[in-house]
Amino acid sequence: MNFVRKSTASFIKKINMAHPDANRWNERYSTEVDFWTELQPSQLLKKYSHLLPIRGVALDAACGMGRNGLYLAKRGLRVISLDISETALSRLVQRFEKEGFEPAAAIYDLSNPWFPDEYFDIIINFRFLERNTFPVYRSSLKPGGILFFETFLKHNNDAHPSTNYLESGELLDEFQQFQVILWDEKLITQVGEQTQKWIAQLVARKPD
Ligand SMILES: C[S@@+](CC[C@H](N)C(=O)[O-])C[C@H]1O[C@@H](n2cnc3c(N)ncnc32)[C@H](O)[C@@H]1O
Repeated sequence: MNFVRKSTASFIKKINMAHPDANRWNERYSTEVDFWTELQPSQLLKKYSHLLPIRGVALDAACGMGRNGLYLAKRGLRVISLDISETALSRLVQRFEKEGFEPAAAIYDLSNPWFPDEYFDIIINFRFLERNTFPVYRSSLKPGGILFFETFLKHNNDAHPSTNYLESGELLDEFQQFQVILWDEKLITQVGEQTQKWIAQLVARKPD
């Protein structure tokens, strides 16, 4: 692993070879900067924020520009922000520092994840699906830790269903050993877009 020192006190950890999707995401974060900057923290996270501990370590998986991670930092959590897009992470670092928080951001490919067992108090995974993360999320949450998961769902009306979309019921099956606080599958209107999309949501606690 190489470490890249930024002009700021923080740094972004860099892997040797860029992920094949990294260029596409870097391009999106460069050309759609207003869209990503204006995205608010997730309604789901805000609605269930009473479940957050006063302090602890949170993983923001596929964090993008950090709208949700910043929300967790403001709630007192230490946030580890991981993504393949260096462009998104650079902006995340600026946003954290502007708000007075020390960022911990790394370029990290979640298609081949490893995390220590029972390390995180909170894991959030928004608008991203990589099935290899499921067992790692299960093992790396501390007992009593909370998972917030929200991403797109395959639907019968999809002309070209993506493998990056969940099957109906899949999220619930994957975390069936957890105590389910909320599970839902519903049609939503995307913020800033005209289209409607099916999403699945799960808020669940790892048993003690
Ligand atoms: C739709 S964005 C969601 C960003 C953020 N979670 C949010 O809700 O604002 C999907 C993110 O997944 C990241 N991503 C795609 N493939 C990845 C991978 N293999 N490992 C880590 N991050 C990845 C992209 O760079 C992008 O930031």
